[in-house]
Amino acid sequence: MKRSLGVCYYPEHWPESQWTDDAQRMAEAGLTWVRIGEFAWSRLEPAPGKLELDWLDRAIETLGAAGLQVVLGTPTATPPRWMLDRHPDMLAVDAQGRARRFGSRRHYCFSHAGYLEDCRRIVTALAQRYGGNPHVAAWQTDNEYGCHDTIYSYSNAARRAFRTWLAQKYQSPQALNRAWGNVFWSMEYDSFDQIDLPNLTVTEPNPAHVLDFKRFSSDQVVAFNRAQVDILRRHTDAPIAHNYMGRIVEFDHYKVGADLDIASWDSYPLGFLSDRLEASADHKAAFLRQGDPDFQAFHHDLYRTVGRGRWWVMEQQPGPVNWAPHNPAPLPGMVRLWTWEAFAHGAEAVCYFRWRQAPFGQEQMHAGLLRPDSAPAPGLAEAAQVARELAEAPQVDSAPADVALIFDYESAWAWSAQPQGADFDYFRLCFAWYRAARRLGLNVDILPPDTGDLSPWRLVLAPGLFTLNRQLRAALPSCPGAVVFGPRANSRTAEFAIPTPLPPNLPGLDARVTRVQSLPPDCCEALQGGGRLVHWLEDIEGTAEVTHRRADGAAAMVAAGALRYLAGWPDGPTLRRLLRDLCAEVGLKTHDMPAPLRQRRAGGKRYIFNYGATAVEWQGHAIAPANLIAVPD
Ligand code: GAL
Repeated sequence: MKRSLGVCYYPEHWPESQWTDDAQRMAEAGLTWVRIGEFAWSRLEPAPGKLELDWLDRAIETLGAAGLQVVLGTPTATPPRWMLDRHPDMLAVDAQGRARRFGSRRHYCFSHAGYLEDCRRIVTALAQRYGGNPHVAAWQTDNEYGCHDTIYSYSNAARRAFRTWLAQKYQSPQALNRAWGNVFWSMEYDSFDQIDLPNLTVTEPNPAHVLDFKRFSSDQVVAFNRAQVDILRRHTDAPIAHNYMGRIVEFDHYKVGADLDIASWDSYPLGFLSDRLEASADHKAAFLRQGDPDFQAFHHDLYRTVGRGRWWVMEQQPGPVNWAPHNPAPLPGMVRLWTWEAFAHGAEAVCYFRWRQAPFGQEQMHAGLLRPDSAPAPGLAEAAQVARELAEAPQVDSAPADVALIFDYESAWAWSAQPQGADFDYFRLCFAWYRAARRLGLNVDILPPDTGDLSPWRLVLAPGLFTLNRQLRAALPSCPGAVVFGPRANSRTAEFAIPTPLPPNLPGLDARVTRVQSLPPDCCEALQGGGRLVHWLEDIEGTAEVTHRRADGAAAMVAAGALRYLAGWPDGPTLRRLLRDLCAEVGLKTHDMPAPLRQRRAGGKRYIFNYGATAVEWQGHAIAPANLIAVPD
């Protein structure tokens, strides 16, 4: 697969006289893609129905003439001010019942039919005009669904749509009452019109109500995206992408991805480390200018699956960002390292955000490849270096993964509705398991929960999967090695009730979780033979073979044939030890990676990345800080 680079560009921010020079400099740097348009609605349609697309024609022509291929974004993340006069009730409403306001972006409710109609109108106009344009080689729908906490809306439009969604799902209020267990606290309904959104209740709402609201909200995103895709497909054969984010779980990305050709995501390693990761102060200090060594890779592996093999980084951090609590500069070399890491995980393209730092607006402190005065910023040289390296070796073929991790958005919704312990977070749990596998040098595939064939992976990990669906249950015997279920696995029905037989109810594994406990930070339960469980513990009864025990003698892990059940949340080193033993059992070779090193096997090579700030010697290789090497696999 041939790999390429690109950049995000906003022609509407700059005088037209500058476009040609910008385009030439992009091409000279070795960039081949340029994404434009995704926030330009006020210039594309300055007043309702008054389209002004000539400037976009010229921008596309200028970029195309320099040999660049355009990714054209639909501008629906930034409805112009006049849109609010047309639809005063189009704003999303927060859980406190306050309408969000105009003055930044993403100020719309996914359920507002009038806004959706206007989105269809602008997308149709763009698709008709540019669907056959030879320079427009890909499309992007909207921008970052979910950014700024914008999936959940408690508006009147959402309430109406939720009632319709529930009526379709349950057919009768009685069926809904039964499914949700509404006899509890006399919450029974006689009609779907009585059902409200699950906010502003006196104490917590019914978790079944919350889970359905989250399912509904996710479906609204899928439908919103699909409305655009359906229009684009009528006018273009170019691939369609959306740019997802890091650690956003509020909608089902697999379902949105099923309608698209390419999954892409926006990778800001330093912002994420500061803003989006539970980690010790020491860890954050050690990786301050490099980013967490597993966070990017997790999303590369996730979005490879969401894109069914085709994925990009649509926005790559090029220098300091503006939005995290602290915004350090990357170590020299990191922009290149992040880019190569994406390619080693199978990315088709990596685009930097953004071309030139904007001197105005909310992101004036956000670096670009150019400074505001158009002189090169440090990221540009690193991008150009990757472009030269790619010209030498454009081929980076992927290698099959050793291990699969099941990642399920519904489980994230379920456990956020009922954490039962302040530290039980589904993403955090899955990420801990992912990190342990990466510290052992393993390639990991991330799979959806309805995977029907586990034969390619010798080790399959399924921590915290709230319900085990029929497909995955039927697929269990296809795994040639071991399938490991983790805490809380299969512990609820799809309707959010505790099932009987008690969980985990895995075929052939006689074990029942009889009691669970959550622990505050700094408290733990030791394991016999070393290691400890943190955050979460379960008591098990049954006759399954006990492979690991807590210091108090209780079972911590049980096994039957290929199945394992881990009754707690091990800390990092303990999880690594357990996985190392399992790998040995199923015949997978592991490498104990030094703390700042990670590797990815691809195309007959091992790419080894040093996320550390100092050089590391390993297996006879010296790897400079913020650098990578490729060795034969
Ligand atoms: C992304 C967004 C971009 C820009 C960038 C800044 O979340 O898609 O438009 O805001 O962050 O880092």
